[in-house]
Formats: sequence, structure tokens, C-alpha cells
Amino acid sequence: MNEPIAALRALRSVELRTTACPESADFYAGIWGLRTVEQGPDAVWLRGSGEQHHVLQLTAAPRNGLGRLSFALATPAEVDAAARRLAQRGLPILAGPGPVETVGGGYGLQFADPEGRVIELLADTFAVARLGREDAVPVGVTHVVLNTVDIDAAVAFYTDVLGMRVSDWSEHQMAFLRCNSDHHSIAFNRAEWTSVNHVAYEMPSVDHFMRGIGRLRHHGVLPLWGPGRHGPGDNTFSYFADPAGLVCEYTSGIAQVDEDRWLCRVWRRVPELSDTWGTAGPPSGETRTHMAGVADPGAFERFPELRERIPGAAALSGIGAVPVTAPGKY
Ligand SMILES: [Fe+2]
Repeated sequence: MNEPIAALRALRSVELRTTACPESADFYAGIWGLRTVEQGPDAVWLRGSGEQHHVLQLTAAPRNGLGRLSFALATPAEVDAAARRLAQRGLPILAGPGPVETVGGGYGLQFADPEGRVIELLADTFAVARLGREDAVPVGVTHVVLNTVDIDAAVAFYTDVLGMRVSDWSEHQMAFLRCNSDHHSIAFNRAEWTSVNHVAYEMPSVDHFMRGIGRLRHHGVLPLWGPGRHGPGDNTFSYFADPAGLVCEYTSGIAQVDEDRWLCRVWRRVPELSDTWGTAGPPSGETRTHMAGVADPGAFERFPELRERIPGAAALSGIGAVPVTAPGKY
């Protein structure tokens, strides 16, 4: 078996394609707590209080979707090694390896997964000054949940190709994957089509988390779901819809994994495990609709030929064509 193409250090940032770019830029910079670092004619880059140059890129688009997921590698040499290993696996590279000329700099490459999500591996990005952590603002992006039409194929790709580890399952409905000590940086949710389910932003503590919810409430923005605390990952959650209807989450207190001791578990989908504080109740139909989003062809829209070139992608073609069997059943 091939070794993974790289050792991912962290999830750096997320690009979202959005139908409401100006309004969402105002939302994330105005009340969500991020800061604008760069602005272009069709895109905005925002940072948190942490060390990443930016954690969110909003790009104007006719349909909501995932632009790309950016992961940190340690060195440019690791990016070059990843490029060689992608070639050995027959996985096409969409950009790089090489210097990144756009916002944030760095040395990177981009490729796509079998459902068309663009993955960027980046080293040597521009440093930014760390901001104070008193205010109830996000440190950065801590995880992204992705809707998938084939959860087993998705987990296989991210573990085999990207070396991520499965921390926990929520029955056969969700899989939580880590690349460092955080319980999950990515989670997959079995769904009828490929799309982004939500993006979660880390608050430094439960107090920051609650004050953030309070600030949104003060501006008339109420949670779609939450506040509550999840069983898998043990993190707090409060989900909101941004102006384009994409779901964003405040979270805190994600479980830390000791790589040598952690044992993956399968969590039953029962209220006392999904909502351990008992404060949130089940998600509403409106919440589920927002989290389902719209079918997202990702890189296949720009590069239709990729479906034939990425192993396993053709079998998933016809988004929404793969039926979801009864939840919780193998
Ligand atoms: Fe989440």
C-alpha cells in the first residue's frame, strides 16, 4: 500500500463560494468576529485571532459551494514530495507545486478528491501578528463538515491518501477525522449530494463561546441549533446561517487525542449523546435544509474531464444519484 502523500499539520483555511459575497463579508467581519485582511473585486479574505494569515476566503459565485480546503504542511519539500506521491497514485494536480502568488503567500499545490472538493497543501505562508484573546472572536477555523454521497469512499480517500485518522463514528452517518491532536478537523456526513455542511470556528473557551452567541443575539441573529455540546468530540456547538444560507458554527473545547491511546468509538445517535447538555434538542427541518445546502460539483464544474482522471470519481458521478440507505444501517 502507498504511504500517505503528506503529513497534514492543521486545517489552515476554507474558501467558500457564496451567492452573497458582500453581505457575508459584512456578516463575518461585522458581527461574527473575523477581520478583513484583503479585499478583491470578487473575493474577501478574513482572519481570526490566531496565527493563520486568513482562515476564510469568500468568493462570489452563482451557487453556494466549497472553494477549497487548505491544510498546512511543514515545509515546501513536503509539498514537492506530496506532488510526487500524487503522481505515483495517478491523481491529477490542479495547481503547483510552487510559490502561491495570491493572498497569504506560501508554497503549495492543489488537487481534487473523488467528489470534486479542491484540497490545497500549503507551507511557508505569511506570518501575521497574533491578536489578543479577550474578545469573544474566533481563533480560526477548527473543522469543516462535508456532505458526501459515499462516506466509506470519502473516509478511505482521506485516510489512505491524506493520512488522516478516524477519531469516531456517529453510527454509519458521520465520520470524524483528525490530522493533529484535535478530535476532528474534517467530518463527513452521509447525504444525498456532495456539499459543504458547515464550517466551525474555534472560540478560546466556553465563556467566549457564550459571549459570541450573545453578541449575535444582540444583532438579532439567533442560532439555528444550539447552544449545546456534542458527544463525539465533546465540543460545544451553536450553528447559524450566514447571509447566503451557508452554516457557520461557534465551538469550543474540542477533545484532544493522545495518538497512542485513542480508541475510535461508534456513537449511537440518541439525544443524550448528540446533545449532552440537553439544551439544544434535535435539529429542526430548517437547520437540516441549511446543512444539506445545494449539490456542489466543485472542481468538476471547471474541469469536467477530472471525473475520468481521478480514481473512483466516475463511480460517484451524477451528483445525488447515489441513494442514501436507511440511516444507521450498514
Ligand atoms: Fe461542527
